Amino acid sequence: MIAMSSVATAVIALAAWVYAGQPSSVQNPTALPSQAVFVDPHSFAVLGANATFRTNAFGQLFNPTNTTPPFFQVFHQDFLKILGPSPTLRAVTANPTFAFAHEAPIWDPATDEVFFASNDGGALGMSDIDHNSQVSKISLAEVATAIKAAGPGAAPVNVSVTKLDLPDTIQMTNGGTGPFDGQLVLITSGRGPRPPSIALVNPTPPHNTTVLLDNFFGRQFNSLNDIKVLPGTNKLFFTDVTYGFLNHFRPAPLMPNQVYRFDPDTSAVRVVADGFDKCNGIIFSPDGSVAYVTDTGATGGFLGSNQTEPATIYAFDVDRKTHAFTNRRVFAFVDTGIADGGQVDAAGNLYAGCGDGAQVWAPDGTLLGKFFLGTLSANLVFAGDGRVVIMAETAIYLAEIAAKAHKVSFP
Ligand SMILES: *[C@@H]1O[C@H](CO)[C@@H](O)[C@H](O)[C@H]1NC(C)=O
Ligand SMILES: *[C@@H]1O[C@H](CO)[C@@H](O)[C@H](O)[C@H]1NC(C)=O
Ligand SMILES: *[C@@H]1O[C@H](CO)[C@@H](O)[C@H](O)[C@H]1NC(C)=O
Ligand SMILES: *[C@@H]1O[C@H](CO)[C@@H](O)[C@H](O)[C@H]1NC(C)=O
Repeated sequence: MIAMSSVATAVIALAAWVYAGQPSSVQNPTALPSQAVFVDPHSFAVLGANATFRTNAFGQLFNPTNTTPPFFQVFHQDFLKILGPSPTLRAVTANPTFAFAHEAPIWDPATDEVFFASNDGGALGMSDIDHNSQVSKISLAEVATAIKAAGPGAAPVNVSVTKLDLPDTIQMTNGGTGPFDGQLVLITSGRGPRPPSIALVNPTPPHNTTVLLDNFFGRQFNSLNDIKVLPGTNKLFFTDVTYGFLNHFRPAPLMPNQVYRFDPDTSAVRVVADGFDKCNGIIFSPDGSVAYVTDTGATGGFLGSNQTEPATIYAFDVDRKTHAFTNRRVFAFVDTGIADGGQVDAAGNLYAGCGDGAQVWAPDGTLLGKFFLGTLSANLVFAGDGRVVIMAETAIYLAEIAAKAHKVSFP
């Protein structure tokens, strides 16, 4: 009896706490999609001296409704426009023993396949100084068939993962974009003495590869991480950071952690931004006027995590003439883990892989909501309008939502 009434009281208190102070469309739980939970920022602005506060942003997630993942955590009603009336979020493939789905997600519209790379460190990464990371793909057509067979709801499915047999020049893939002219753009961290590089890779066998860049005026990069094309141009912008060394598969770093621009027309390479702790993901606004660079300084490989270092997304203006990144400012500091790689949608909302799944911000920096997975995501990709494919190390999730994709082109 006591247990029953305290449960009922807790449920009422929780409901009041979650829905208080919001516009009626959001207050009314029936207006929320079935996998969405509204968490009003008013409801946790003051927790009180007796509350249990989080002390570890890398282990403790922020899930005040104790909802079972995966679900959509909504902080602002504009997230409901992104989700649309009947969004779903589910795992579409999983392998609990291997971090096969870390980064470099690329959707190939020609085949409706998504390519990605495994983790190049960590207990489940299976790659180290002696072992290369693995690039694989899944078929979204196979996902669609499996979802249809699973019936209504958002039950997980488990489609097959196909490993690519890539040339030896591709060592420790960590980022990717495209495809451009039908070729994947991969960026690699290198392994041991083998240099980090940017390469074009044929998505179909024999996966022939053209390396575009593997040094800076004769010096190797530290370990290249992420790459994007500046919208409206064919210039490649990429980050270099010390994680290869910090994960024990690259020599001691010889250059600052910084952001570079590569011009495929001339092969000229230059620095466009520095002053980072550990620059990691790179994303452009749809019109190319703003660059976002994540700084994952709080995660340090063998140095461990340090919550007083950045878990921050910086925004910059992109100088139209020089392409230098100017007017650096904080865009967001993430509440859980770090923001790693990400994408924008057609409206310029920013989606990034974080410590609890993927988080979404409006262009003004408002945290709108999360694709709450209960586990970390390092990156994600739009697979056309309405489909977001989220890397989650030992699993891949698919979110089917209303947002439209930002279409990248390579003139
Ligand atoms: C916090 O806990 C103390 C000790 O149990 C209690 O006296 C106090 O009323 C509590 N404060 C609040 C705000 O609940
Ligand atoms: C999915 O299938 C693969 C084999 O194709 C298997 O290794 C894995 O354990 C399965 N995942 C789940 C969650 O059952
Ligand atoms: C792979 O080879 C084909 C056929 O020669 C060519 O068209 C394509 O550009 C090559 N791709 C790369 C990335 O080298
Ligand atoms: C965490 O980082 C801060 C700032 O760089 C540094 O002062 C501190 O010593 C670091 N703490 C640990 C435990 O490494």
